[in-house]
Amino acid sequence: MSSPFARIGVVGAGAMGRGIVQLFAQAGVPVVLHDAQPAAAAAAVKSIADTFGKLAEKGKLSAEQVAGHLSRISTADALGGFAGCDLVIEAIIERLDVKQTVFRALEEVLAPDAVIVTNTSSLSVTAIAAACRHPERIGGYHFFNPVPLMRIVEVIGGPRTKPEVLTKLSELARSAGHTPVVCQDTPGFIVNHAGRAFGPESLKALGEGVATHPVIDRILREHVQIDGQGFKLGPFELLDLTGLDVSHPVMESIYHQYYEEARYKPSVIGAQRVAAGLLGRKVGEGFYRYDKGNVVADPAHQEADAPPAPAGLRAWAAPGPAHKEVRALLEALGASVDTGAQPGPDSLIVLTPLGIDATEAARGLDARRAVALDTLMPFGHRGCKRRVIMTTPATEAAWRDKAHGLFAADGARVSVLRDSAGFITQRVVAMIVAVGTEIAQQRVASPADIDTAVRLGLGYPAGPLSIGDKLGPARIVEILEGMHRVTADPRYRPSAWLRRRAQLGLSLLHDDQ
Ligand SMILES: NC(=O)c1ccc[n+]([C@@H]2O[C@H](COP(=O)([O-])OP(=O)(O)OC[C@H]3O[C@@H](n4cnc5c(N)ncnc54)[C@H](O)[C@@H]3O)[C@@H](O)[C@H]2O)c1
Repeated sequence: MSSPFARIGVVGAGAMGRGIVQLFAQAGVPVVLHDAQPAAAAAAVKSIADTFGKLAEKGKLSAEQVAGHLSRISTADALGGFAGCDLVIEAIIERLDVKQTVFRALEEVLAPDAVIVTNTSSLSVTAIAAACRHPERIGGYHFFNPVPLMRIVEVIGGPRTKPEVLTKLSELARSAGHTPVVCQDTPGFIVNHAGRAFGPESLKALGEGVATHPVIDRILREHVQIDGQGFKLGPFELLDLTGLDVSHPVMESIYHQYYEEARYKPSVIGAQRVAAGLLGRKVGEGFYRYDKGNVVADPAHQEADAPPAPAGLRAWAAPGPAHKEVRALLEALGASVDTGAQPGPDSLIVLTPLGIDATEAARGLDARRAVALDTLMPFGHRGCKRRVIMTTPATEAAWRDKAHGLFAADGARVSVLRDSAGFITQRVVAMIVAVGTEIAQQRVASPADIDTAVRLGLGYPAGPLSIGDKLGPARIVEILEGMHRVTADPRYRPSAWLRRRAQLGLSLLHDDQ
């Protein structure tokens, strides 16, 4: 596939600029690199050459290919070196004023129809273009780190960007083996916007004392099952990897850019931990402590061992959508099932709330004997790695422990939470769908592209709209409405896109005709 651009300039020789140069040199396009720091461009070319050398050692590139790729890379001491480029990609410091200055200077050097794009993560492409004489040839080209391996790029158009610019940028990405997703210039574009559920909702649950961070991480890795897969990393493992100094400002920026929209409200925990310097892996300590890149084991991070399965326990399952399956599970685990319309005086009360908390689900029942089981994911006998239960504040420790022992009787690991509207899994997964459908409603991109971008950009087991479809849009609405009712927090209101499709029995990937 041939490139629609003949010569590409890259400004900024940092982590992103290097990756972009490598990508397009490998795709056969001549690339010129410039950085304001005199030695930075040369250092970047050296590091790219080292990368090619390693790929050659592994047999992934031949010596001729390495020589060919390197011959296409050159450096320039000044922006004047970009004369003759028909595309310049800016990957410099994330500051609007500095980017605007560079764009204005580029316009002096380039032909009027040359395309100029920014790799900004959080600034408005439109605001950068507003400083230019020809905003119609300005766009966003948002790559992910490391560029050659993260095979997705958001191709961003502002209100004045010509559609041909986006078409050519998409073709270029495809010619380099990347998947382009065209999206509107909105805060966080697709991927950083869609990512406003997993971390922030987990931080919110942590802030409410529902569970400790290692428990939340384990639940999202092992309890969540979307086509048999959980999240590869828990939210706190991910925050430690990205660095809270990077993630927390993104959370704040998207929240403010959306005029304090409750859905995106960040947690005070993030701000405090940034102030404390607990940034993550790069400083050796974040939510976890690290020694030479490995997590240091901490006994406080262990969950209590399951008590022995209680003998002769009677258990009563509250009516609900999974009632039959819960009764079958209780029986298979060795409990004697209380089939009365109301629980007998010595029965464990098993609640199965969707969205509401255990306290709300226990209304009219003896909360001292009540425990809630999360039934959103597979929970049957020998049918899951992990089960999640939660107590009401009134649940007595003896009943909690009996439930813990019972639900671990087939070898499943059991996490025990304090009361939470939506446990952990329900609230985090439902928020991922809520935010994904909000992005669809805002027409930031096509429904299919939203899913593709999130799957490739965030590594989720499926895109947010497909996750909603697999779990059932009506169930997701029920969870969100339950959370909304119990907490009175507008954060949890279902988006119009989700509510309408759930009501009409349509897929969340269905676009209006
Ligand atoms: N790092 C990521 O994960 C990531 C992902 C997507 C997008 N981005 C965005 O990409 C851009 C670059 O990020 P990065 O991580 O590569 O940054 P970086 O700090 O690694 O590199 C930035 C480079 O730009 C150079 N620079 C600064 N001002 C300049 C100027 N006026 N002219 C020329 N060069 C200048 C610096 O000397 C430095 O070498 C930012 O806008 C960032 O938000 C970063």
